[in-house]
Formats: sequence, structure tokens, C-alpha cells
Amino acid sequence: MDSKSQNIKLQLSKISKSFGKKKILDEIDLNVFDNESLVVLGGSGTGKSVLIKTIIGLLSPDSGTIFLDGSDITHISKKGRDNLMSRFGFLFQGGALFDSLAVWENVAFYLIHNKYMNTKDAKEIASNKLKDVGLDDSVMYLYPSELSGGMQKRVALARAIVNDPEIVFFDEPTTGLDPIMSNVINDLIIKVRKELGSTTITITHDINSAKKIASRIAMLYQGKITWSGNVTEMHKSNNAIFNQFIRGETEGPIKLEIRRR
Ligand SMILES: Nc1ncnc2c1ncn2[C@@H]1O[C@H](COP(=O)(O)OP(=O)(O)OP(=O)(O)O)[C@@H](O)[C@H]1O
Ligand SMILES: [Mg+2]
Repeated sequence: MDSKSQNIKLQLSKISKSFGKKKILDEIDLNVFDNESLVVLGGSGTGKSVLIKTIIGLLSPDSGTIFLDGSDITHISKKGRDNLMSRFGFLFQGGALFDSLAVWENVAFYLIHNKYMNTKDAKEIASNKLKDVGLDDSVMYLYPSELSGGMQKRVALARAIVNDPEIVFFDEPTTGLDPIMSNVINDLIIKVRKELGSTTITITHDINSAKKIASRIAMLYQGKITWSGNVTEMHKSNNAIFNQFIRGETEGPIKLEIRRR
């Protein structure tokens, strides 16, 4: 690791979040280093999306503290939060493009509505960001419904990086894509980290994607980070929960939750 990558960019200290009686995050401690690619693995419903939403302030934690570059960002003013958002980029689970807006407007949305940038400049940046994700100007005026799933993900990725964010959050970026398109997205995530110098935090169930993009992996289970390490350590882990998850075994310590409604 170089010295830059050892600086703590984001620090979670004893973060807890419950919904009703259900404790989703249970005193989570997690450090994310500058310019690393952290992958958070975990089963469906374990709280991965809640974790990201809590970090970016869409949900507030019940207790605990979040530090960005050493400053407490857990309880800040609306203005402070808006400034903070301009340093983050997100690819939400499912892509979530605006159906009624053309591709370029989706990509440039933040620049026009939050930065009040003029149309000409915003369009130019949108075009450049689309090129960064391998799409040319022919898609600028198409609508999301006219794109394939893989292209939609790429447009969502262009939108996520439109403001050259310091930290980019990817929530299930490869879900629903074929293996080749998944690798295109994996390569783009690697490129964002290398070329923009961003720190990336990716949530996935996709072990192949994790192996390809992660500088470090953390597994969320029952509200805690149960294992963390790099890709080489992953195969030497003696954590039974983590091993069961990465091998996809049905027998083991992970109990499938049966929902009774
Ligand atoms: N706003 C909310 N209000 C109440 N419960 C919620 C809310 N958001 C999430 N939950 C609950 O928190 C738990 C974790 O949800 P979350 O979306 O973080 O799971 P996940 O790990 O991202 O799952 P998946 O892999 O399926 O996306 C679930 O039981 C979910 O129902
Ligand atoms: Mg989720």
C-alpha cells in the first residue's frame, strides 16, 4: 500500500440502526481507506443498502459516529449535508434513472439542478462522462426505456461520476447483467478508482465481481462486519460464516431467515 491508501477516508464507529424491534446494524466499526475499493458482501436483507444509506445520510443512525476525513458528519446542517453530497456519487440498486428524462439529462441532472450549470456546459460534461463509460453521443437523446439493462447501468454510472466524486457508492452494480456486461461494469469501477482517484464502496452478492474489483472485502452478517480481508486472504479464511457465503453452501452457520407475515 502507498501512503495515500493508508489514510482513513471514512470511519464508522459503533453505528447502529434498527427498524422497529429489528436491529439491522449493530455497533458497526469500519474504516475505509483513501482510494481503496472496499466491497461489502452479505446475504439478501442483511442491511447492505441500509449501511450505504446511513453513510450518505439518507437514513440517520440510532447511535454511533461517522467521520469523513476525520470530521464528524453524523449530525450536520442541511447545507453541510448538501455540500457533502457533492463529494459523493451513487449508483443505486436497480439503476433508478428518471424515465421521463433523456440520457444526457439523467447524467447532467445534478449539474443542472444542484449546481445551476447552463445547458451547454452540462451537456458537454454529460457527453464526456458517457464516453468514460463507453457510450457515444448517439445515446444522448434516447430515453432509459430505449436502452438495454447494461446500457442503463452504464448511464447510471456516468451519472454517479458526473461531479468527480471523492467517494462513489455502488449498490449491486452487476445484478441482472450477463457475465460479459458484468465485467464491463467491473472494469469501469476499477477505472473510476484509478482515473478519478475516487474511493469506491461496492455492495454485491457477486463473488466474481468482488474478486475482480476489491482491494478489501468486508462481510456483513447479523448487523456486524463478521470478516474483512483482501482477496488473497479470502481463500485462506477460517471464518465459517464467510466461507459458507463465498461457496454458496446451503448447510452451515448461516441460517436462512423464514419470513412469517
Ligand atoms: N426504510 C425502511 N423501513 C423499514 N425497514 C427497512 C427500511 N429499509 C430497509 N429495511 C429493512 O432492513 C433490512 C435490510 O434491508 P437492506 O435493503 O439494507 O438489505 P440488503 O442487504 O441491501 O438486501 P438485498 O441484497 O436484497 O438488496 C430488511 O429487513 C429491510 O426490510
Ligand atoms: Mg440492497
